[in-house]
Amino acid sequence: MRILLLGGGGREHAFAWKLKQSESCKQLYIAPGNAGTNQLGTNVPINPTDFEAIKKFVLESEIEMVIVGPEQPLVEGIVDFFENDLRLSEIQIVGPSKEGAQLEGSKAFAKDFMYDNQIPTAGFREFTKDSYYDGLEYIDNKPTPIVLKADGLAAGKGVVILNDREAAKKEFTAMIEGKFGVASATVVIEDFLKGIEFSVFVLTDGNDYKILPVAKDYKRIGEQDTGLNTGGMGAVSPLPFLDKAMMKEVEEKIIKPTISGLKKKDIAYKGFIFIGLIKVDGKPYVIEYNCRMGDPETEVVLPRLKNDLVTLLASLDNGTLKDQKIEMDERTVSTVMLVSGGYPETYQKGFKIDGLGAINDSLLFHAGTKDADGKVVTNGGRVLAVTSYGDSVSDAVATSKKNAAAIHFEGKYYRKDIGFDL
Ligand code: AMP
Ligand code: GLY
Repeated sequence: MRILLLGGGGREHAFAWKLKQSESCKQLYIAPGNAGTNQLGTNVPINPTDFEAIKKFVLESEIEMVIVGPEQPLVEGIVDFFENDLRLSEIQIVGPSKEGAQLEGSKAFAKDFMYDNQIPTAGFREFTKDSYYDGLEYIDNKPTPIVLKADGLAAGKGVVILNDREAAKKEFTAMIEGKFGVASATVVIEDFLKGIEFSVFVLTDGNDYKILPVAKDYKRIGEQDTGLNTGGMGAVSPLPFLDKAMMKEVEEKIIKPTISGLKKKDIAYKGFIFIGLIKVDGKPYVIEYNCRMGDPETEVVLPRLKNDLVTLLASLDNGTLKDQKIEMDERTVSTVMLVSGGYPETYQKGFKIDGLGAINDSLLFHAGTKDADGKVVTNGGRVLAVTSYGDSVSDAVATSKKNAAAIHFEGKYYRKDIGFDL
């Protein structure tokens, strides 16, 4: 099988690593990839949202399967682009249709979907310019903290949680006035939920589904979950606080109604659903849906998956998903993300990374890296995920931390408390 993987982060390096273990993976291309994926396949300098360039490459290179890593191409309709093209429609593409990707692309769509399918989530209302004054009044009557969400994709910055009503009204006004462009033309205001968050990953062909290993990521830049939000500073799988009964409840109350809700609406979905959940008083609630795998969650989920990934993904297209049995490594896997100094605000790139070659008891998944004159240099905010196996959370994290300390680049920062709350 000739495979094209779209994206260039730690998630994609983990995908490439897992795909290469399959005998069916004969050729692997990654667009645009990074210095890590370059060691496993061929990087091609194509932007994942440049559909015409992707089409040209797919046809010329006789690609048989396309795997979409990030959300942007999915939300922009890459799957429909393939389906509507005579020649591309023969090629398998892993990901939901544009409408299915709305689960991530529009918070209002996702909230309405959950409401219609009685999927537990925080209470909410939606407001636009036309209902601006109702929005202010709604905030006046709400207990704090107040959760404001821009409807559309806002580079991870569209969710704001405020303890003060006046500040919430100011933020709401800024959003409605276009702080995030059209992404905040609609604002969802929802109830604040307090609990522990975790992520469930589901593979579906729109009919059947399989549940992949669960994970928890650590989004804040500072230790003890303080400071600014990031793309994710580390992750752990599995989670000691999730027992069988809780997972059963997630499956019955959330996963099954999600799949049947998609079917009811006739939404084509052959890919991953990443469900962000929060456990409140022993019950799971949905915080968000994503239409792809998580990053850095993939860097702990795929190392625990024993199945052949090509077989599993091909099953989405050939009707055999229901026959697959997900097999998981029982060990704990952790990842610790090394980031550039200053991230998630401004940071510099281009620093040489040293110490990669000496590490043999962790998997190193590259995120923001590139090859430059025979050296690996930093090329993004999140630079490298250090993934380790262990018998417990503390054991796995200890190995990741030991190796995180042994890698060097100017400005390197990482959280030393991944898994602190488990
Ligand atoms: P989202 O982009 O919807 O996942 O929101 C980003 C982060 O904001 C989540 O991971 C939560 O930590 C937090 N968050 C979102 N919605 C709520 C809520 N209703 N109650 C508490 N925290 C929330
Ligand atoms: N780590 C969170 C995400 O991938 O959205």
